[in-house]
Amino acid sequence: MEDNKNETSNIVWHQSDITKEDRQKLHGHKSLMIWFTGLSGSGKSTIANALQHELYKDGSSVYLLDGDNLRHGINRNLTFTEEDRKENVRRTAEVGKLFVDAGVVVLAALISPYAADREQARKLFEPEEFVEVYVKCSLQECEKRDPKGLYKRARLGEIKQFTGISQPYEEPQNPEITIDTTVMSVKESVQEIQSYLKNKIHLREEV
Ligand code: ADX
Repeated sequence: MEDNKNETSNIVWHQSDITKEDRQKLHGHKSLMIWFTGLSGSGKSTIANALQHELYKDGSSVYLLDGDNLRHGINRNLTFTEEDRKENVRRTAEVGKLFVDAGVVVLAALISPYAADREQARKLFEPEEFVEVYVKCSLQECEKRDPKGLYKRARLGEIKQFTGISQPYEEPQNPEITIDTTVMSVKESVQEIQSYLKNKIHLREEV
């Protein structure tokens, strides 16, 4: 019997008549993945949402893949074991790749605690298409903020495998951008990312 587990060798890739470059032309800008990583409560979703808003106002086609939201749908069968977080990152990166192929600026906000998983995600994209944003915030500060009350529950042992408490968070060593949310406001953070993106997205004439 033929083994078809994870098998792609019998599947042929169909080349689309319409290329990523065609779609980028239609949107009037380049597409890329902006990947936000950081502890729960560090500010990933808040900053990504605010950036999404600014890019939208600016006329860009933009979409936010938020870790919490994806876990209600495409990733709803995943837990917080190391293996499931890896799969969470893999699926999100693959979905993001489709968005980039569709000519959209895509933002992903996930804890994505393991460096190796983030590197795998990066490998799916062209070098200039992947921007890693480390939303840096000390565990102490995240725990103080505790917007969802999860740290408290993790400390009480009610939530197992909680990042920063009972599971690791591996800090990015070479992110394109680091945003320290203990000192920067949301507005400043967005401006910093926008200035990095300048000339990277709006290349209307060069697309
Ligand atoms: S990731 O590690 O797999 O990238 P993801 O960003 O999708 O995590 O989901 C993290 C969110 O799930 C947190 O913001 C928090 O609201 C919630 N959550 C529930 N349980 C945990 C846990 N054990 N560790 C971290 N976050 C958790």
